[in-house]
Amino acid sequence: MEKKIVDIFDISYEGSGVGKLDGQIVFVPKTLCGEKVEIEILKRTKNFLLAKQQKVIEESDERIKPFCPYFDVCGGCAFQHCNYGCEKTIKTQVLKNELKKVNYFGEIDFVESETRFAYRNKIKLEARQNELGYFKQKSHEFFAIDFCPIATKEINAAIPKVKDFLKVNDFKNLKSVYFKQVQKSVAIVCLFNKNEKKVLKNIKNIEILSDFSVFFAFGDILESNSTQIFNVFGKEKLQEFLEDNVVEIDVSSFNQVNEKVAEKLYENLTNIVAGKRVVNAYSGQGLLTFKMAKFAKFVYGIEYQKSAHKSAEKLKSLNEEYRIENICGKVEDCLDLVLLKDRIDIIVLDPAREGCDQKVLDLILKSDISEIAYVSCNFSTLVRDLKVLQSDFSIEKVKIFDMFPCTANLETLVLLKKKCDS
Ligand SMILES: C[S@@+](CC[C@H](N)C(=O)[O-])C[C@H]1O[C@@H](n2cnc3c(N)ncnc32)[C@H](O)[C@@H]1O
Repeated sequence: MEKKIVDIFDISYEGSGVGKLDGQIVFVPKTLCGEKVEIEILKRTKNFLLAKQQKVIEESDERIKPFCPYFDVCGGCAFQHCNYGCEKTIKTQVLKNELKKVNYFGEIDFVESETRFAYRNKIKLEARQNELGYFKQKSHEFFAIDFCPIATKEINAAIPKVKDFLKVNDFKNLKSVYFKQVQKSVAIVCLFNKNEKKVLKNIKNIEILSDFSVFFAFGDILESNSTQIFNVFGKEKLQEFLEDNVVEIDVSSFNQVNEKVAEKLYENLTNIVAGKRVVNAYSGQGLLTFKMAKFAKFVYGIEYQKSAHKSAEKLKSLNEEYRIENICGKVEDCLDLVLLKDRIDIIVLDPAREGCDQKVLDLILKSDISEIAYVSCNFSTLVRDLKVLQSDFSIEKVKIFDMFPCTANLETLVLLKKKCDS
């Protein structure tokens, strides 16, 4: 093993410390600016080295003891070794550096999460030989866990029971298990390959999971239209409360993982669209559409996942006074029809990590839309899309909503306004 000492002088966009060794950049995860660390080189490429921190020789004042025993190995969290102030500074700086690529040098507001742990209402654990776990950082090497401190306490209480259930059943081709909490109830989804449906015939000791709603799913990922989902125990729908109503939602629909921060994001967006005609593109199960419709003139929700669209329709029926039209289809295929029939003031874009299809950006540029609220969980695709939009739009405001504390992921809201001469 090659052991060296480096000084950390910067933090990469993935949250790793950056040092220099013999003139070459070296990335050292879980280190902080100003630290001197002993490292072990794990990988050498033409442009950089990747290393593991062995010992912190000179510690930053911001360093704290991680609250998770798996932090050193786990590929999930990046910032448990520093206090929240330091995490906020790093995240803001990372986004600042990215937005320089679209000539934005203005302020970035930071909306905090009230807590750094027990906030995640959804996790996906890998399954290997009846064990559950995550991948080690920068690899697909599995390691088993008993709990995940950033997940809610209800999810953590479910993990050992699911492990017991797996041991009894000894499924050979289980890929992963999703844990999803809505209000106080937890849903468990065991995901298998498409051709494994025979497991449904002989499920043993399901009563181990009698506190939960249990589903078996067959496909690549839970959220896909082509994944088949079977409710094998407990309630088939998850129950959300909204304005004194109980709303039934599908286990496969997208939900924001940090409820408290999502509330702040939704409140912000609701204020922005008040009194306007709105397209809510990539609208998921329609919660945001419903909330915005209380104050907006009209809201079109566009979502391609069928089960999420159905939930959005049910939500719409809760209040006939809200002016909502939910459209089931891809934004790139449906947006032009909406723009043909109505004059839209603002479009809210909240795409998945892949960002927006080029066709969506072209349609916006050709339209009369004067404002865009772009919500992104991936700043690489955000910057790519902003590069296109900035021909006609200028960035007015940028806010980080800290939806994923302790991880290097960022949820960003960028508000754009049409330039006067466009
Ligand atoms: C990040 S989520 C946002 C959901 C919603 N804004 C919310 O807060 O719950 C992205 C959503 O876009 C949907 N989606 C992904 N690609 C799409 C596309 N091309 N057209 C329409 N919807 C899409 C996904 O199914 C998912 O529900």
